[in-house]
Parts: sequence; C-alpha cells; structure tokens
Amino acid sequence: MALNIFSNPMNSFVIFLLMLLSYSLPNEVLGRSATLPKSDVELIEFALNLEYLEADYFLNGALGHGLDVVAPNLTGGGPPPIGARIAHLGPLVRDVILQFGLQEVGHLRAIKSTVRGFPRPLLNISSETFGQIIDNAFAFDPYANDINYLIATYVIPYVGLNGYVGANPLLQSVTAKKLVAGLLAAESGQDAVVRAMLYERRYEIVIPYGVTVAEFTDRISALRNKLGRDGLKDEGLVVPKELGAEGKVTGNILSLNKDSLGYPRTPPEILRIVYATGNESVPGGFYPKGANGTIARSYLEH
Ligand SMILES: *[C@@H]1O[C@H](CO)[C@@H](O)[C@H](O)[C@H]1NC(C)=O
Ligand SMILES: *[C@@H]1O[C@H](CO)[C@@H](O)[C@H](O)[C@H]1NC(C)=O
Ligand SMILES: *[C@@H]1O[C@H](CO)[C@@H](O)[C@H](O)[C@H]1NC(C)=O
Ligand SMILES: *[C@@H]1O[C@H](CO)[C@@H](O)[C@H](O)[C@H]1NC(C)=O
Repeated sequence: MALNIFSNPMNSFVIFLLMLLSYSLPNEVLGRSATLPKSDVELIEFALNLEYLEADYFLNGALGHGLDVVAPNLTGGGPPPIGARIAHLGPLVRDVILQFGLQEVGHLRAIKSTVRGFPRPLLNISSETFGQIIDNAFAFDPYANDINYLIATYVIPYVGLNGYVGANPLLQSVTAKKLVAGLLAAESGQDAVVRAMLYERRYEIVIPYGVTVAEFTDRISALRNKLGRDGLKDEGLVVPKELGAEGKVTGNILSLNKDSLGYPRTPPEILRIVYATGNESVPGGFYPKGANGTIARSYLEH
C-alpha cells in the first residue's frame, strides 16, 4: 500500500510540480530526445527538398550514379531522378564534386534523423532544366566539361544558403538551430568553393555561348532575382562598384548584402526559382511534380 505514491495527495502534488518543472526545462538539460515544434519540423523538411537535389546532382556528376547506389536507404523509395548523368570532368573538379556529393549524404542523414521527412521527390536534372534555370533562352549542358559543371553548380548550393539564412530567425528549438547552423556552414562553404573556382576563370569565354564566365554568373543571378520576385538577393562575380564590398570594388567573390551578410530567402521565393516558373504554385524546373513537405505542398493544394 505504501508503494502506491499516488495514494497520498501530498505525493501527487510533488509529482505534479516535477512534471511542470520538466516541461519548462529544455530537452538538452533533461537528456531526453527532443520533440521539435511543428514549425521547426516544417522548415527543416522544406530544406530536405534541396538537399535531395544536391545529393543526386553532385553524386551523379562525379560518379555516374546517385543516392540509389551510394545510400539507397536515404531515398525513402522516391523515384530516380530524370536526366542524371556523369559529367566530363577533370580530376580536380571531379574530386571536389565527389566531396560535395558525399557531404550531401551526411546532410540527408542528419535531417532524416531529426525529422521524419519524406521520400525523394521526382527530380529533373536534365540539361533542358539547367537551360531554363540558367538562361531561359537555350539548353545548357552542365555535364559537358568542368566550366559548364561549375557554372551549373553556381545555381544550387547558393539557393540552399539563402533558405537557411531565411529560416534561421524563425527556428524555436536548440536542436533545429544547431542543425540549420551546421547546414548553413556547409552550403556556404560549397558556394564559396564554386565561386572561387569560377572567379579564377571569370574572363574566360564559355564555348559555344560566346559570353564570359562573369557574364554567365550575372545572367543567372539576374534571372534568379527575377524569378524570386523579391528584389536583389543574388549577385554575379563581377558587379558595379555600388554592389561590391563597401561600394569600393567590382570583384564579388561572394554574393552578400551592403553589410556583407548573406541574403535570406523565404520558401516561396526558393520555390519560384527551383521550379523556374516564378510561381510557387506552379511546379516545374528541378521538381516536375513539385517539392514535398507541408510548406511546399501548401502552395500546391488548394
Ligand atoms: C543507411 O545504411 C547505412 C549502412 O549502409 C547505415 O549506416 C545508416 O545508418 C542507414 N541510414 C538510415 C537513415 O537508415
Ligand atoms: C510527399 O511525401 C508523402 C509522405 O510524407 C508521400 O506520401 C507523397 O507521395 C509525397 N508526394 C510527392 C509528390 O512526392
Ligand atoms: C525535364 O525537364 C525539361 C525542361 O523542363 C523537359 O523538357 C523534359 O521533358 C523533362 N523531362 C521529363 C522526362 O519530364
Ligand atoms: C501562380 O499560379 C497560380 C495557379 O496557377 C495562379 O492562380 C496565380 O495567379 C499565379 N501567381 C502569379 C503571381 O502569377
């Protein structure tokens, strides 16, 4: 009888107080696995769409096969990507891109061990899609050579970076903030590596397009600003002085705002860009059937 602590009203009161206290303590202090607020789950799941795209684009570019071979249990059974190919790369670029691809495997594992997520959505990474995202006017074969692959890569981690800068102030939990800070660091690093490699070759003419690498990056950035429909958040490698660091230089190795901070983008802005439609309710581009998760689906289903 004395074993039943609930039989004593005083004991029940103490238990009630302990419960209240435990609810007000962070999960980390209590050492139990965290339950994330719904809004954190939704923001992290939104990012999963971009991480799937990066994983399959980089792994296929470097190896000729993607997640289905490298980490099949991370695909969640989603369909194989359309138009994925091995790229004709020299040893340096292939080495770097393989590292990026394997980094994305880690990102997918980290995201999926934090939130339930969803299977890989249908991806279209064909040269026709890159044509839409890069210039609107012509097909662009990212898989043809080093410079084309690097130009196409200019398109991808940067948008992820913008999404993480945008999501960060909205996150509630320590767990989500830790994950997103780590992802932001990695995407920014990838973007910086690609921009630095392109910057060295900025005055080179890209065959057969007859424009320099710098002009290419300007066009891509201008198109993303247009599709995103929220002003200037994307800058090429060589810019008018007003856009350079402290308004003093035209070289623009990183795309940053007037205080040299990364630009944020919201989920609808990102969808407008990766769908290449300028409309978060009209799928296309890399995601022929749309991105998945509560946030992306909310623009598609009404
Ligand atoms: C996927 O499989 C690898 C081993 O092949 C394992 O280490 C990893 O934990 C698995 N990941 C998931 C999310 O099941
Ligand atoms: C989205 O994810 C759900 C699981 O969360 C899955 O049932 C559904 O088929 C997915 N939709 C698309 C279009 O990939
Ligand atoms: C992939 O995207 C391109 C560009 O939108 C399109 O022309 C092509 O038909 C798509 N491929 C498939 C199999 O849907
Ligand atoms: C986006 O597409 C939806 C669905 O087709 C349409 O109702 C809406 O007007 C479009 N928005 C813009 C800004 O074009």
